Amino acid sequence: MNKFLKIATIGGGSSYTPEFLEGLINRYGELPVDELWLVDIEEGLEKLEIIGELGRRMVDKANIPMKIFTTTDRKKAIKDADFVTTQIRVGQLKARAKDESIPLSYGFIGQETNGAGGLVKGLRTIPVILEIADEMNELCPDAWLINFTNPVGMVTEALARYSKHRKFIGLCNTPVGIERGIAKILDIDHSRVRIDFAGLNHMIYGFNIFVDNQNKTSEVFERFVENSILVNMKNIDPMEWDEKFLKALKLIPCPYHKYYYKQRDMLESQLNQYKNGITRAEEVIKTESELFNIYKNSELNTKPIELEKRGGAYYSDAACNLISSIYNNKGDLQVVSTINGTTIKDFPPQYAIEITSRITKDGPVPYKFIDEFPVSIKGLINQIKTFEILGAEAAVEGNYDKSLLAMTLNPLIANDILGHRLLDEMLEANREYLPRFFNKEFHRE
Ligand code: G6P
Repeated sequence: MNKFLKIATIGGGSSYTPEFLEGLINRYGELPVDELWLVDIEEGLEKLEIIGELGRRMVDKANIPMKIFTTTDRKKAIKDADFVTTQIRVGQLKARAKDESIPLSYGFIGQETNGAGGLVKGLRTIPVILEIADEMNELCPDAWLINFTNPVGMVTEALARYSKHRKFIGLCNTPVGIERGIAKILDIDHSRVRIDFAGLNHMIYGFNIFVDNQNKTSEVFERFVENSILVNMKNIDPMEWDEKFLKALKLIPCPYHKYYYKQRDMLESQLNQYKNGITRAEEVIKTESELFNIYKNSELNTKPIELEKRGGAYYSDAACNLISSIYNNKGDLQVVSTINGTTIKDFPPQYAIEITSRITKDGPVPYKFIDEFPVSIKGLINQIKTFEILGAEAAVEGNYDKSLLAMTLNPLIANDILGHRLLDEMLEANREYLPRFFNKEFHRE
């Protein structure tokens, strides 16, 4: 294929962008991007320019003719793009700090994609992503929207329900991270491991494990049971799983499952850190400022190793492989959040799921390696799906009752009175980012 190729990245000033740039540069032979447009808001302009300059140095070093543009004009960037990637953070890291610390002050898990934090991040984010999807429908109707913005599950569910633009995919580095962890246990290169995953975003389970395309599920699973601590992500407390539990489950849980199956231990550990004034947001604010100091160095022309301190390390593997497989119609298997269709019987066709899918020029085709979720995980997945649906609907409608139900039904809250108080405080703390809730009267009590 030899057509002009344009990618627009919304939230281009993110400290993660050099990952993405590195991925594009490494794949330039198969994915010859002519123009990469990095977009950010006014408040993010300084960071955007630093990233843009670093990107131009990286591209010069690689000696490839990829042009990098930086702009705050989103529509100009989106116009005629082939792919639009979204990695925004509405309210920036300050809002994340509240998503984590307010729930902790009530004695609940403080996490930006699960529980109360995930809900409120969804309420802030969904209207903006839907607006971007609308703009794409008008300005680049054939382009794919690839969304990394959390909470990816709830955002994909919102796109599935409300977007006129139907070419969207949710993407996360958790599956790639698990495959890397398994490769570490086996002491082999991660490219030799592939796992069939199914579930929801940050709630996926690994089913079949392949090494060099051979099904090695039972032997590798045994090694995983003994070394589960090695399968983790930088943003989640490393805690080992109970061996008996894993053997009974017979699936690989994802690191985020620790918030559900080890709720007490995770909460205790978070509360200890919180007492010392530490939340993940504060750690990330520190890492970000270190990273931007490094990025500013005009001698730097590669992705610095320090970026691996972030939970999203290696997300470019997932992102660039996905874009390349669509562009080149590869038909290979990757894990994405997409529409269920007739894949999993537990859900109606229009629901979003996260599942290993064949990636073609027409998008992902879920790979049907199971018909339904095993009974052991059905309940939790359904509960989180209910949370995602209520959250997505609440975000679009500015609906307090649906937010309250999402909050209270979430297994990390499961308390009506505290859920209600927590929601009220979190909505108030996010007032400026929740116009659909606050620009009209709504019933609270
Ligand atoms: C993991 C998740 C991402 C999340 C990231 C947070 O990689 O899969 O969805 O954004 O962690 O990492 P951070 O460094 O921001 O805590």
